[in-house]
Amino acid sequence: MSDPTPYAPHAPGSQPPLDAPAYGSTHKRHPKLAPIRAPLTLTEATSPRLTPERFPPEADMSRVNGKDALGQRIIVGGRVLDEAGRPVPHAMVEVWQANAAGRYHHPGDTHDAPLDPNFLGRARLFTDAEGWYRYTTIQPGAYPWRNHHNAWRPVHIHYSLFGAGFAQRMVTQMYFPGDPLLPLDPIFNAVPDEAARDRLIARFDLELTVPEWALGYRFDIVLRGPAATPFEEDHA
Ligand SMILES: [Fe+2]
Repeated sequence: MSDPTPYAPHAPGSQPPLDAPAYGSTHKRHPKLAPIRAPLTLTEATSPRLTPERFPPEADMSRVNGKDALGQRIIVGGRVLDEAGRPVPHAMVEVWQANAAGRYHHPGDTHDAPLDPNFLGRARLFTDAEGWYRYTTIQPGAYPWRNHHNAWRPVHIHYSLFGAGFAQRMVTQMYFPGDPLLPLDPIFNAVPDEAARDRLIARFDLELTVPEWALGYRFDIVLRGPAATPFEEDHA
Protein backbone atom coordinates (compact mmCIF):
# COMPACT_ATOMS: atom_id res chain seq x y z
CA MET A 1 0.00 0.00 0.00
CA SER A 2 1.37 3.43 -0.86
CA ASP A 3 1.45 6.17 1.72
CA PRO A 4 -2.07 7.54 2.04
CA THR A 5 -0.81 10.91 3.30
CA PRO A 6 2.23 12.17 1.35
CA TYR A 7 3.66 14.64 3.85
CA ALA A 8 6.24 17.05 2.49
CA PRO A 9 9.75 16.86 3.94
CA HIS A 10 11.00 19.43 6.40
CA ALA A 11 13.01 22.37 5.04
CA PRO A 12 16.78 21.92 5.56
CA GLY A 13 17.93 23.45 8.86
CA SER A 14 14.42 23.82 10.23
CA GLN A 15 14.67 20.89 12.63
CA PRO A 16 17.31 20.16 15.31
CA PRO A 17 19.73 17.26 14.80
CA LEU A 18 19.12 14.17 16.92
CA ASP A 19 22.63 14.55 18.36
CA ALA A 20 23.29 18.18 19.27
CA PRO A 21 26.77 18.32 20.94
CA ALA A 22 26.02 21.46 23.00
CA TYR A 23 22.86 19.82 24.34
CA GLY A 24 24.55 17.09 26.37
CA SER A 25 21.84 14.51 26.95
CA THR A 26 21.01 14.14 23.24
CA HIS A 27 24.26 12.21 22.80
CA LYS A 28 23.14 9.55 25.30
CA ARG A 29 19.77 8.87 23.79
CA HIS A 30 19.80 9.52 20.07
CA PRO A 31 19.53 6.47 17.80
CA LYS A 32 22.92 5.04 16.81
CA LEU A 33 21.55 3.02 13.88
CA ALA A 34 19.74 4.20 10.80
CA PRO A 35 15.98 4.07 11.24
CA ILE A 36 14.01 1.37 9.51
CA ARG A 37 11.34 2.77 7.25
CA ALA A 38 7.94 1.46 8.25
CA PRO A 39 5.10 1.64 5.78
CA LEU A 40 2.63 4.39 6.58
CA THR A 41 -0.78 2.83 6.68
CA LEU A 42 -4.18 4.30 7.35
CA THR A 43 -3.70 3.49 11.03
CA GLU A 44 -0.66 5.75 11.40
CA ALA A 45 -2.27 8.51 9.36
CA THR A 46 -5.60 8.60 11.16
CA SER A 47 -5.01 7.30 14.70
CA PRO A 48 -5.21 7.67 17.60
CA ARG A 49 -8.66 9.07 18.19
CA LEU A 50 -8.14 11.48 21.05
CA THR A 51 -11.45 13.06 21.98
CA PRO A 52 -12.56 15.50 24.68
CA GLU A 53 -14.89 12.80 25.96
CA ARG A 54 -11.99 10.47 26.70
CA PHE A 55 -9.51 13.19 27.68
CA PRO A 56 -11.40 16.04 29.36
CA PRO A 57 -9.95 19.44 28.50
CA GLU A 58 -8.49 21.68 31.21
CA ALA A 59 -7.67 25.07 29.74
CA ASP A 60 -6.91 27.10 32.85
CA MET A 61 -3.60 26.58 34.68
CA SER A 62 -3.88 29.89 36.51
CA ARG A 63 -5.90 28.58 39.45
CA VAL A 64 -6.47 25.45 41.51
CA ASN A 65 -9.74 24.94 43.37
CA GLY A 66 -10.62 28.54 42.68
CA LYS A 67 -7.37 29.89 44.16
CA ASP A 68 -5.07 31.96 41.96
CA ALA A 69 -1.54 30.86 41.20
CA LEU A 70 1.22 33.40 41.81
CA GLY A 71 2.70 35.12 38.78
CA GLN A 72 1.85 37.21 35.75
CA ARG A 73 -1.42 35.89 34.36
CA ILE A 74 -1.29 35.30 30.59
CA ILE A 75 -3.48 33.90 27.84
CA VAL A 76 -1.83 31.90 25.09
CA GLY A 77 -3.69 31.22 21.86
CA GLY A 78 -3.09 30.46 18.24
CA ARG A 79 -3.85 28.16 15.38
CA VAL A 80 -2.68 24.68 14.54
CA LEU A 81 -2.20 24.36 10.77
CA ASP A 82 -0.93 21.65 8.47
CA GLU A 83 1.80 22.02 5.89
CA ALA A 84 -0.70 23.33 3.33
CA GLY A 85 -1.95 26.03 5.69
CA ARG A 86 -5.19 24.22 6.43
CA PRO A 87 -6.48 24.31 10.01
CA VAL A 88 -6.10 21.10 12.02
CA PRO A 89 -9.44 20.77 13.82
CA HIS A 90 -10.12 18.83 17.03
CA ALA A 91 -6.43 18.19 17.67
CA MET A 92 -5.38 17.46 21.24
CA VAL A 93 -2.86 19.98 22.54
CA GLU A 94 -1.14 19.30 25.86
CA VAL A 95 1.05 21.90 27.55
CA TRP A 96 3.16 21.88 30.70
CA GLN A 97 5.46 24.35 32.36
CA ALA A 98 7.33 25.47 35.47
CA ASN A 99 5.71 27.86 37.94
CA ALA A 100 6.52 31.57 38.22
CA ALA A 101 9.59 30.73 40.31
CA GLY A 102 10.95 28.31 37.73
CA ARG A 103 10.04 25.02 39.40
CA TYR A 104 7.94 22.14 38.08
CA HIS A 105 5.26 20.52 40.19
CA HIS A 106 7.04 17.20 39.85
CA PRO A 107 9.03 15.08 42.35
CA GLY A 108 11.96 14.98 39.93
CA ASP A 109 12.43 18.74 40.13
CA THR A 110 14.73 19.57 43.05
CA HIS A 111 15.50 23.14 42.02
CA ASP A 112 15.81 25.37 45.10
CA ALA A 113 12.75 27.48 44.29
CA PRO A 114 9.32 27.54 45.95
CA LEU A 115 6.41 25.39 44.87
CA ASP A 116 3.03 27.05 44.46
CA PRO A 117 0.11 25.04 45.92
CA ASN A 118 -2.19 26.77 43.42
CA PHE A 119 -0.21 25.85 40.34
CA LEU A 120 0.09 22.37 38.82
CA GLY A 121 1.50 23.48 35.48
CA ARG A 122 -0.36 21.30 33.02
CA ALA A 123 -3.30 21.78 30.68
CA ARG A 124 -5.02 19.90 27.89
CA LEU A 125 -7.17 21.40 25.18
CA PHE A 126 -8.53 20.71 21.74
CA THR A 127 -8.46 22.91 18.66
CA ASP A 128 -11.83 24.07 17.37
CA ALA A 129 -13.16 23.54 13.85
CA GLU A 130 -10.87 26.31 12.53
CA GLY A 131 -7.77 25.01 14.32
CA TRP A 132 -7.78 27.59 17.12
CA TYR A 133 -6.66 26.80 20.65
CA ARG A 134 -6.39 28.95 23.77
CA TYR A 135 -5.50 28.55 27.42
CA THR A 136 -4.86 30.63 30.52
CA THR A 137 -1.78 30.30 32.69
CA ILE A 138 0.90 32.34 34.44
CA GLN A 139 4.24 33.34 32.95
CA PRO A 140 6.73 30.60 33.87
CA GLY A 141 10.13 31.37 35.38
CA ALA A 142 13.57 30.44 34.07
CA TYR A 143 15.34 27.54 35.78
CA PRO A 144 18.86 26.02 35.92
CA TRP A 145 19.41 22.66 34.20
CA ARG A 146 23.08 21.61 34.68
CA ASN A 147 23.81 21.05 30.97
CA HIS A 148 26.93 23.17 31.43
CA HIS A 149 28.25 25.68 33.98
CA ASN A 150 25.63 28.29 34.87
CA ALA A 151 23.10 26.88 32.40
CA TRP A 152 19.59 28.36 32.59
CA ARG A 153 16.65 27.51 30.38
CA PRO A 154 14.90 30.48 28.83
CA VAL A 155 11.27 30.88 29.86
CA HIS A 156 9.27 28.30 27.93
CA ILE A 157 6.11 26.22 27.77
CA HIS A 158 6.26 22.61 26.55
CA TYR A 159 3.81 21.42 23.89
CA SER A 160 2.68 18.02 22.70
CA LEU A 161 0.28 17.69 19.77
CA PHE A 162 -1.08 14.68 17.96
CA GLY A 163 -2.74 16.42 15.01
CA ALA A 164 -4.84 14.09 12.92
CA GLY A 165 -2.74 11.03 13.76
CA PHE A 166 0.65 9.68 14.82
CA ALA A 167 2.24 10.97 11.62
CA GLN A 168 1.51 14.51 12.77
CA ARG A 169 2.89 14.05 16.31
CA MET A 170 4.70 17.14 17.47
CA VAL A 171 6.64 17.87 20.66
CA THR A 172 8.05 21.35 20.92
CA GLN A 173 8.58 24.33 23.19
CA MET A 174 7.22 27.85 23.02
CA TYR A 175 9.48 30.73 24.06
CA PHE A 176 8.82 34.36 24.91
CA PRO A 177 9.99 37.42 22.97
CA GLY A 178 12.97 39.36 24.26
CA ASP A 179 14.27 36.65 26.60
CA PRO A 180 18.00 37.32 27.17
CA LEU A 181 18.61 33.60 27.73
CA LEU A 182 17.58 32.61 24.19
CA PRO A 183 21.00 33.24 22.55
CA LEU A 184 22.62 31.09 25.27
CA ASP A 185 20.29 28.10 25.16
CA PRO A 186 21.60 24.92 23.46
CA ILE A 187 18.09 23.50 23.02
CA PHE A 188 16.71 26.58 21.26
CA ASN A 189 19.90 26.96 19.23
CA ALA A 190 19.96 23.30 18.19
CA VAL A 191 17.60 24.45 15.43
CA PRO A 192 20.08 25.66 12.79
CA ASP A 193 17.83 28.00 10.81
CA GLU A 194 17.14 31.43 12.35
CA ALA A 195 13.72 31.77 10.72
CA ALA A 196 12.76 28.36 12.11
CA ARG A 197 13.97 29.38 15.60
CA ASP A 198 11.82 32.50 15.35
CA ARG A 199 8.80 30.26 14.81
CA LEU A 200 9.37 28.95 18.35
CA ILE A 201 8.90 32.41 19.88
CA ALA A 202 5.39 33.55 20.73
CA ARG A 203 4.52 37.16 20.02
CA PHE A 204 2.77 39.56 22.34
CA ASP A 205 -0.79 40.02 21.08
CA LEU A 206 -2.96 42.86 22.28
CA GLU A 207 -5.97 41.12 20.72
CA LEU A 208 -5.56 38.20 23.13
CA THR A 209 -4.87 40.47 26.07
CA VAL A 210 -7.87 40.87 28.39
CA PRO A 211 -8.08 44.35 29.94
CA GLU A 212 -7.57 44.46 33.70
CA TRP A 213 -6.86 40.72 33.75
CA ALA A 214 -4.20 39.04 31.60
CA LEU A 215 -1.58 39.61 28.91
CA GLY A 216 -1.95 37.71 25.63
CA TYR A 217 0.53 35.78 23.51
CA ARG A 218 -0.02 34.28 20.07
CA PHE A 219 1.69 31.03 19.10
CA ASP A 220 0.79 29.29 15.85
CA ILE A 221 1.97 25.76 15.16
CA VAL A 222 2.52 24.13 11.77
CA LEU A 223 2.57 20.34 11.68
CA ARG A 224 5.11 18.97 9.19
CA GLY A 225 6.21 20.46 5.90
CA PRO A 226 8.62 23.30 4.98
CA ALA A 227 6.98 25.82 7.38
CA ALA A 228 6.76 23.37 10.27
CA THR A 229 7.41 24.43 13.84
CA PRO A 230 10.76 22.89 14.89
CA PHE A 231 10.29 19.62 16.76
CA GLU A 232 12.27 19.68 19.99
CA GLU A 233 13.36 16.79 22.13
CA ASP A 234 12.14 16.85 25.70
CA HIS A 235 15.09 17.58 27.96
CA ALA A 236 13.40 16.52 31.18
FE1 LIG B 1 11.08 22.72 30.68
